[in-house]
Amino acid sequence: MPGFPLVRPRRLRKSDNLRRLVRETSLETQDLIYPLFVVHGQRVRDEIPSMPGNYHLSLDMLPAEADELSSLGIPAVLLFGLPASKDERGSEAYDDHGIVQEAVRALKRAAPDLLVVTDVCLCEYTSHGHCGLLERNEVDNDPTLDLLARTAVSHAAAGADIIAPSDMMDGRVAAIRRALDEQGFSSVPIMSYAAKYASAFYGPFRVAADSAPQFGDRRGYQMDPANAREALREVGLDIEEGADIVMVKPALAYLDIIARVRDRVDLPLAAYNVSGEFSMVHAAAQQGWIDGQRATMEILTAIKRAGADIIITYHAKQAARWLRQI
Ligand code: PBG
Repeated sequence: MPGFPLVRPRRLRKSDNLRRLVRETSLETQDLIYPLFVVHGQRVRDEIPSMPGNYHLSLDMLPAEADELSSLGIPAVLLFGLPASKDERGSEAYDDHGIVQEAVRALKRAAPDLLVVTDVCLCEYTSHGHCGLLERNEVDNDPTLDLLARTAVSHAAAGADIIAPSDMMDGRVAAIRRALDEQGFSSVPIMSYAAKYASAFYGPFRVAADSAPQFGDRRGYQMDPANAREALREVGLDIEEGADIVMVKPALAYLDIIARVRDRVDLPLAAYNVSGEFSMVHAAAQQGWIDGQRATMEILTAIKRAGADIIITYHAKQAARWLRQI
């Protein structure tokens, strides 16, 4: 191998066009999914304090939101709902007229081409804030599967384009796939939160979605941040159970996991750039400590470079505007 002075890597860094010509990774608006938080009520468009630029939206505000996203070229949203009331069994999660089900209908009416992905989980809907049914203060896996499957079917019946279970119960992809197929939704894909870690970076989301557990934590069902091989096992199981797209979450502290999954798996791979990752960048930029635009684009590009095809991010709208300027 020849070396310096014959070899000078700087030759290819001399101009913007030259750098663009040899760029290995491209970030595009079509890679992005934007999360939305829908609430009951009328004319609600309240900014979420811990996640500036993101809003609690009532159903009547969704057509305008869909217009904005379409004009920005963002292809998909991921829906989270705040129910009118919570109970032990998270009943509004699988109510045919629950907030998410109605939001799906409103969005599909307003913007049929905008892909609507629905998060399937019970934590926003249960009084205890855990992601499944409780049995002696533990989340009881198997009885929870039926409720998750009902939730998924009600989303599909409302018109959801992709079902995204985030609960981390064992066997939920199989249960959801079976239920969807039995109810006539065999063509609705599942994007599973396959490797979802028990992370401190969900903090701002849990305030926004009012979904913090009322006791204990989620370490009994979400993954231990110290584990990488186990992520491959989780991903493998979800694929066997019928997942169409697999996800790693969070993204930033888990770029190694994204890269390892990419190496092993040919399915489309999504990464969730979660609330805490967004809020940290936003807060530091507001202080003038970092350049928000450059930091955001660097992070999103890194998530793609690691191997993600799809990025779920609260930066989506801003990133779409910045990408358009380039
Ligand atoms: C629901 C769910 C959570 C997130 C997505 N779906 C919260 C959690 O698991 O506690 C987090 C998203 C984010 O932080 O942006 N289970």
